[in-house]
Amino acid sequence: MEEQILLLKQEAINAFSAATKMEELESLKAKYLGRKGQLNSLLKRLPTMPQEVRPTLGKLLNQVKSDLENVFEEQTARLRRAELQAKLESEKIDITMPGLPFDAGNRHVLTAITQEIIDIFSGMGFEIAEGPEVETDQNNFVALNIPKDHPARDMQQTFYITSEILLRTHTSPVQIRGMRARYPRLPVRLIAPGTVYRRDQADARHSPIFHQVEGLAIGEGVRFSDLKGTLLVFARRMFGPDTVIRMRPSYFPFTEPSAEVDVSCTVCKGKGCRTCGGSGWLEILGSGMVHPSVIRNGGYDPERVTGFAFGMGVERIAMLKYGIDDLRLFLLNDIRFLSQFH
Ligand code: DAH
Repeated sequence: MEEQILLLKQEAINAFSAATKMEELESLKAKYLGRKGQLNSLLKRLPTMPQEVRPTLGKLLNQVKSDLENVFEEQTARLRRAELQAKLESEKIDITMPGLPFDAGNRHVLTAITQEIIDIFSGMGFEIAEGPEVETDQNNFVALNIPKDHPARDMQQTFYITSEILLRTHTSPVQIRGMRARYPRLPVRLIAPGTVYRRDQADARHSPIFHQVEGLAIGEGVRFSDLKGTLLVFARRMFGPDTVIRMRPSYFPFTEPSAEVDVSCTVCKGKGCRTCGGSGWLEILGSGMVHPSVIRNGGYDPERVTGFAFGMGVERIAMLKYGIDDLRLFLLNDIRFLSQFH
């Protein structure tokens, strides 16, 4: 019987070691070590053996049993490691594989242009100022030399909240607020981006809501040539280094003298084309030397300081820069349009 036990032991060890799956190992365990297993059936035969060999055989059977249990544990650990390894191999991520593309979105073209304008003027020492969109008639008109009965109001028929409060029609009231907030500091150099409102029917060239950037510089000895130089730098940064500007005499109640500023046509470079109506020039903004009474309304002494101001439409700059021909596109939220500007 001893030989049989040792043979069984060797057979079981070989079988455990050859197992490649946990289920296989489990059924081998039942076969050799289970209640109805082979080791147990040898144990059951023990009482039939001669009295004197029983203790030795009993001891041997127990020893083999615990040896086989150890082998089973070792083999279990081996298979678990192998299974984990296989799992890791099959689930390995290839980090060199290109990722799935996703839409990241982009700034609205008006936000981007406004930021570009701000960047250009900050580079020349202008600080950003803001004013409310709900403004007083006083700041929006009166302090800018546009009294109650002034015909200049006709062009800006607007949204009144009370007879004295309205949605601002331009960013020029920030000139007044900006000077008052800074007095007596000199020089004052600010740009004021923001939304403005006018009672206009929307079409390709009109919108009841649009955006402007106002500029103001106040100081001792500020001259018209400073205005021209500043705007030339702006035009070249915005539209390209070959751009030239021209200033035409104009009229605004809050500047004297006043000038309208044109840039050489961004499409034909000044030769004359459809975009510029054959003239070679495109109008981009209004400007001038700040009227003495506006300087006084801002709290400064027009005998001591002078200044220049300008105001431009953000939509217009965007239209000229990108050849956009309909103002409504800015408000329509059409992804096909908006995603073109990064
Ligand atoms: N506020 C004017 C408008 O909305 C634009 C403008 C013209 C602003 C001349 C200025 C300026 O500061 O000097 O039409």
